[in-house]
Amino acid sequence: ARILVLNGPNLNLLGSREPDLYGATDLESVIATLSQRASEAGHELRHLQSNAEHELVDAIQRAPGDGIDFILINPAAFTHTSVAIRDALAAVRVPFIEVHLTNVHAREPFRRHSYLSDLAVGVIAGLGTTGYELALEAASRRLAQI
Ligand code: DQA
Repeated sequence: ARILVLNGPNLNLLGSREPDLYGATDLESVIATLSQRASEAGHELRHLQSNAEHELVDAIQRAPGDGIDFILINPAAFTHTSVAIRDALAAVRVPFIEVHLTNVHAREPFRRHSYLSDLAVGVIAGLGTTGYELALEAASRRLAQI
């Protein structure tokens, strides 16, 4: 199957951005690990990181035409603001898992609300980069059932 990983704003800074919160691993190595795991499981992984809301919306809109079967998304700050990303995910109906590196429930109150969670297959928060790997594993299992 084809799995799309989407990362939102400031996640390009992973590794150097508030490392006490977000860890020391950079995005490139997170994606390299995920790609390897995906190919071991017989899947193809595609990745987009963008700081621009419309680029994430466009990628979600393109997903069905691109043959994407599942999306793993860390919408970053757009989690808490973006009706547009929510609407795009609802429109394409591609199943997705929402991932957060940090435990958004243990931080500022404005991070507790997500515009996406009620549409998600599941949500993983607080497990650092392991969260992406667990999300990939969960997506794989789900895809195997279809
Ligand atoms: C985040 C949590 C968001 O609140 C924050 O804006 C981010 C990253 C996380 O992965 O923990 O940029 O999505």
